[in-house]
Amino acid sequence: MTNLPKTYRVKSFGCQMNVYDGDRMAELLSAQGMAPALGEDADLVVLNTCHIREKAADRAYSDIGRLRREDGSRPMVALAGCVAQAEGAEAKTRSKMIDLVVGPQAYHRLPEMLAAAARGERPVDTDMPAISKFDALPARRRSGPSAFLTVQEGCDKFCTYCVVPYTRGAEISRPFADIVGEAQALANGGAREITLLGQNVNAYEGGLDKLIRAVARIDGIERIRYTTSHPADMSDALIAAHGEIGKLMPYLHLPVQSGSDRILKAMNRSHSADTYLKTLEKVRAARPDIAISGDFIVGFPGESDEDFTATLAIVDAVGYASAYSFKYSARPGTPAATMEGAVAPEVMDDRLQRLQARLAEHSLAFNRATVGKDITILIDRKGRLPGQMIGKSPWFQSVFVETRAGIGDMIDVTVAKALPNSLGATAKVKVPA
Ligand code: SAH
Ligand code: SF4
Ligand code: F3S
Repeated sequence: MTNLPKTYRVKSFGCQMNVYDGDRMAELLSAQGMAPALGEDADLVVLNTCHIREKAADRAYSDIGRLRREDGSRPMVALAGCVAQAEGAEAKTRSKMIDLVVGPQAYHRLPEMLAAAARGERPVDTDMPAISKFDALPARRRSGPSAFLTVQEGCDKFCTYCVVPYTRGAEISRPFADIVGEAQALANGGAREITLLGQNVNAYEGGLDKLIRAVARIDGIERIRYTTSHPADMSDALIAAHGEIGKLMPYLHLPVQSGSDRILKAMNRSHSADTYLKTLEKVRAARPDIAISGDFIVGFPGESDEDFTATLAIVDAVGYASAYSFKYSARPGTPAATMEGAVAPEVMDDRLQRLQARLAEHSLAFNRATVGKDITILIDRKGRLPGQMIGKSPWFQSVFVETRAGIGDMIDVTVAKALPNSLGATAKVKVPA
């Protein structure tokens, strides 16, 4: 490899924070004079990877293999994201095709690393420098209607199954003014909705409620969301914000993982089923129509039928509007990986199926309850049918509608139909006065 790449492609996997990082890497590469590649054939491919479960991590390597072109040549390959952080230099021995390895806190150094890679060095940077990468990134310019904004990174919670405290490091909050400045830049660039991001976004040091209030004062920003929250960090001030700030959307992603106190303890979750439910009671008192979403893990070491039944019970008690559920995946280096009581794969499969069936019942019920309502949606993409557009409801449901409105428009619709994962709606025709 001797030439600096002229075109690039960034492929992000995993959570929204990776999507944000992927966008920022793309902006950085563009600022260096490189162009985004159209189609498959880029000079540089950045794989922005996820390490959360075994399958996600393995995917990074199978994707690298597929980058070789028919004529035997290949693009320059940058391994970025959480697999890069977790494996560091070892990644280079796992795949000869990797030209550079850059962790999630070091990607502002990509330009120098690309130069080194072009010289045939295979640089690795998984430092977590004291000076924030955010300060070294170019200013934000263009934005789609719905933008992500990372306000906090890292995690000090150390749930026993989770790699994030190791791949993202300790909890660090960005300065308040920097975030508000970036939100303003995103609004200037076309954003109408901002989702504040963090592995534990509600642990934001300056107070997430105060930050939401500041972003709500920005003209052009109509909707605010935040994710992901930890139950132990749902402060009264943040809960109150849900009843007080009109731009804060009635949606809360609050992972619980399990309904069994025994398992929650083994997971080091620092909340019980009961304290979680009490928190949600307060949230619903502040904002009665709020949609609750959650994450679940089935098959954590030692999980019995009884424990799993408790998980189904908390699902029924909460009535989730939506949820993500996963089979437990043992991650090297985490405390749970060496715990006894592994759950058999077929038991995990069965529990996951039963859990997902139950969750689907609840999301369908939630969606059905919105049929007949007049709501406002923010259009974020085209549908597959001609004239069809897809937007988001305040409760984060995907809404299909036939309209001449375009991406970025907010329109009033009447919900006509509920499916498990989406709504159908008709655009409200304005009756002339
Ligand atoms: N910071 C967030 C999200 C972390 S990762 C939080 O605390 O909720 C997103 C989800 O992946 C987690 O909520 C959990 O449900 C799941 N997850 C994390 N580690 C896992 C593992 N080892 N196996 C299976 N699922 C896992
Ligand atoms: Fe992982 Fe737990 Fe931290 Fe979430 S709170 S990122 S699940 S360690
Ligand atoms: Fe995956 Fe890293 Fe996000 S492990 S879930 S990409 S923080």
